[in-house]
Amino acid sequence: MEVIICEEYEAMSKAAARDIANVLNTKPNAVLGMATGSTPLGLYQELVRLHKEEGLDFSQVTTFNLDEYVGLSPQHEQSYHRFMHDNFFSAVNIPRQNIYIPSGTTSNYQAFCEWYERRIMECGGIDVQILGIGSDGHIAFNEPGSSLQSRTRLKTLAKSTIDDNARFFDKASDVPIYAITMGVGTILESRKLVLLANGSSKAKAIAEAVEGPVTSMITASALQLHPMATVYLDAAASEQLKMRDYYLWIQDKKPGAPAL
Ligand code: F6R
Repeated sequence: MEVIICEEYEAMSKAAARDIANVLNTKPNAVLGMATGSTPLGLYQELVRLHKEEGLDFSQVTTFNLDEYVGLSPQHEQSYHRFMHDNFFSAVNIPRQNIYIPSGTTSNYQAFCEWYERRIMECGGIDVQILGIGSDGHIAFNEPGSSLQSRTRLKTLAKSTIDDNARFFDKASDVPIYAITMGVGTILESRKLVLLANGSSKAKAIAEAVEGPVTSMITASALQLHPMATVYLDAAASEQLKMRDYYLWIQDKKPGAPAL
């Protein structure tokens, strides 16, 4: 796992955006895995800037979102459909038919989840999956105890996740209790993983995910099993890493390594 520590949120977002842009430059029809929440907002802003000012092209891109709240329609202000439209899709040129987001209102969740997994495979698999991390160490909505081989399915959200996400709703009781989410196993099949975290509220989860044992109690720790995972942090999110100086050393020396 590669750990990149940046001073500020903006630098972290730009570094991650460069990583995604490099994937698109080498594979214009890449399949991107998208995350929602406050963490990737700066990354999406930077990708939109690269599209508008530097011609980064999304016309052949396909996207699959990680998750959606059960019970929220695509038009609901707090749905992840709406989030993605408002913060990214409306500003870039991804064809509408190439955008996949789990349905929060399907009448048959089991069948939908199986179809979603099939669509990912039929589109060639995810080239780069963007991830945030919950304060309980979750990736997507794979709460503590989720199998590290789990697939797309309906999940009950942890109380701590509902509390964390209450800031987006009028009141905590409005936060949906269930979500449809890609599984840890689904995520691990992506060719490349890019996880972002900022702020001290994520520092403990990051230390456990990066340096703790691989455990279903911290599903982000599954990134340790992936051959190509990069974790982008701001200074605050990195503050509990025991090997922080080592990551900074590698980060400083790696660009000078002999070309492969
Ligand atoms: C969202 C998702 C979640 C968030 C995580 C962090 O699609 O999959 O795992 O990434 O809950 O959320 P923020 O970024 O709001 O702190």
